[in-house]
Amino acid sequence: MKTITIANHKGGVAKTTTALNLAVLLANQGSRVLACDLDPQGNLSLALGADLQELEESRLTSHRLMLSDRDDYSTYVQKTRPRLDVLPSCLDHDAESMLLSQRVAGELLLKQKLAAAKRDYQFCVIDTPPSLQTPTLNALAMSDLVIIPIETSMFALHGISQLLRTIGQVRRIHAPQQIIMALSTLHNARQKLDRDVREQVMAKFGSDFVFNTSIPRLVAVGEATAQLQAVVESQPDSAATFAFHKLAAEVINVLIEEGLMDEQEVSRSNQK
Ligand SMILES: Nc1ncnc2c1ncn2[C@@H]1O[C@H](COP(=O)(O)OP(=O)(O)OP(=O)(O)O)[C@@H](O)[C@H]1O
Ligand SMILES: [Mg+2]
Repeated sequence: MKTITIANHKGGVAKTTTALNLAVLLANQGSRVLACDLDPQGNLSLALGADLQELEESRLTSHRLMLSDRDDYSTYVQKTRPRLDVLPSCLDHDAESMLLSQRVAGELLLKQKLAAAKRDYQFCVIDTPPSLQTPTLNALAMSDLVIIPIETSMFALHGISQLLRTIGQVRRIHAPQQIIMALSTLHNARQKLDRDVREQVMAKFGSDFVFNTSIPRLVAVGEATAQLQAVVESQPDSAATFAFHKLAAEVINVLIEEGLMDEQEVSRSNQK
């Protein structure tokens, strides 16, 4: 199982949108995918059909899994589409504060609890909240690839150094092979400002570590969100759908190029 985390502590930069569309596409292409929602806002869970009210009662959420003494992760997982399951999240202040107070190896809880999922899925796609607290650290600690969505607007790079420092610290200790890549989101290629900011992102990360694909800012994506859908499903002909397909292909290529996956693994999963 390859784990891909979408992280940026800045809010509203399209983390959830990226996680949702990537998870749906990887599953459509034949891989078994676990979409993991670590954000108590529960947006990814909602978009994949989870009932947040029910979750508040059942407490079968990613945060409660991290805190539980039991090791059976599958009780917490819901089926959403062929080959695509979700480990959901919802508002739960008690769980959040308990997670914050975890001291010893508190960033390894999710990795431990999902150890058994490795044989059940080819990809785990994790959506993180707009913060760098325990849940996000847990996602980073188990990730092969970290995608940092960056909205190509004026304050895009504000706070990125802090984010990269935190990711770097977790990577050094827990995931030395981890790849970290930036993705331009909400991008308007016609605006000079957007093009300039993308250049700055290239300079900051190095051009090899910025996806060639930019996700365009398009009404279709907002409309899909409003209807709790993935644009790749609801608007197959949208330019945003095309961009997410390109992104999914780039993600696979990066994992292969960096030796984290082999081509046979990809074609095997495509046949299933
Ligand atoms: N390419 C796009 N074009 C237009 N609107 C978009 C695009 N991507 C995302 N959006 C919209 O931007 C808003 C924020 O997106 P999203 O929820 O994915 O961001 P986020 O980083 O997950 O936010 P948060 O930090 O609150 O979790 C949503 O309303 C979404 O529909
Ligand atoms: Mg989100």
